[in-house]
Amino acid sequence: MQVLESLLNDFTKELGPINKIADLLNLKAKYIGKQGPLADVMKNLKDATPEEKRTIGAKANELKQSIEALFSKKMQELELADINASLEKDKVDISLTDSVMEKGLQAAGYHPVTIIQQEIEDIFISMGFEVLDGPHIEDDYHNFEALNIPATHPARDMQDTFWFADKKHLLRTHTSTIQVRGMKERKPPFRFVGPGKVFRCERTDASHEMVFHQLEGMMVGENVSVGNLIYFMKTLLTEIFKKEVEVRLRPGFFPFVEPGFELDIKCLICGGKGCSVCKQVGWVELLPCGMVHPNVLKAGGIDPEKYNGFAFGLGLDRLVMMRYGIDDIRHLHGADLRFNSQFKSF
Ligand code: DAH
Repeated sequence: MQVLESLLNDFTKELGPINKIADLLNLKAKYIGKQGPLADVMKNLKDATPEEKRTIGAKANELKQSIEALFSKKMQELELADINASLEKDKVDISLTDSVMEKGLQAAGYHPVTIIQQEIEDIFISMGFEVLDGPHIEDDYHNFEALNIPATHPARDMQDTFWFADKKHLLRTHTSTIQVRGMKERKPPFRFVGPGKVFRCERTDASHEMVFHQLEGMMVGENVSVGNLIYFMKTLLTEIFKKEVEVRLRPGFFPFVEPGFELDIKCLICGGKGCSVCKQVGWVELLPCGMVHPNVLKAGGIDPEKYNGFAFGLGLDRLVMMRYGIDDIRHLHGADLRFNSQFKSF
């Protein structure tokens, strides 16, 4: 009985400082395992009187249950501590407050070319134009042949082209390809614009890039005139620059238009007096355009005896640079967040 009485005390004392599951299992074995003091007491019971057997047996059982209860409680505590420790160790920081992510979010907004493109699309939509898309990878036919530039034509030299190995496909050198596809899919009268990236195999410098952006425009109907062309271009430019602009046409050569023009605007910086932006000329060359060549209409499945039209190709990067005072076109593709984040919205 004495042994039994002190056992629970001893067990409790030893249990206190234990903080590992293995130690706890050992402690349990030490007290109520096969070689433990409790087992000894039970073994010795065979020599005791029936009365002693009953009281000591009952006491031993009670003791065993108490020890088991303390053991289970401690076990639960240690298991929980284990789980918490491993959670702490494998913690994933999902807040990601630093560096790239943060900067990316601050920079979120539109690229300046996208801003101008969307603005111009809106202006044309308000004037009844559709907005069309076209593939970057084109074939010789859509990029040259159908635009009245046959294989032997020297005008091909004006555009340095990225050809694919099959010698049939290329990265489109201009958005005029959209004219060809647009004409085939509709019947006159129609008017549409087609913005997008174009590619030229060129050496890059402050004003030349291999990838840049154009917005093609085309209007075809029964009595389209140069007057219509000037009207739409003037309206467009007045909307973009938010002030009345003066325009002039000079002759320009492009195989897909006849007559072809270079449309200039009176320099917005110096008002026509002459400055470094207009190279002292007073006018800035902005937009090539013209009346659609009959061969181009034919290639588009349109009868040039009945219909005519105008077309133009607007360089978006140049406009962006003029609008925001950007002095190097390479900034536009630099992917430098310090640059990009300056143009958040319209
Ligand atoms: N496609 C020409 C180029 O990239 C630009 C152009 C000129 C487009 C005259 C036109 C146009 O639609 O009429 O150089």
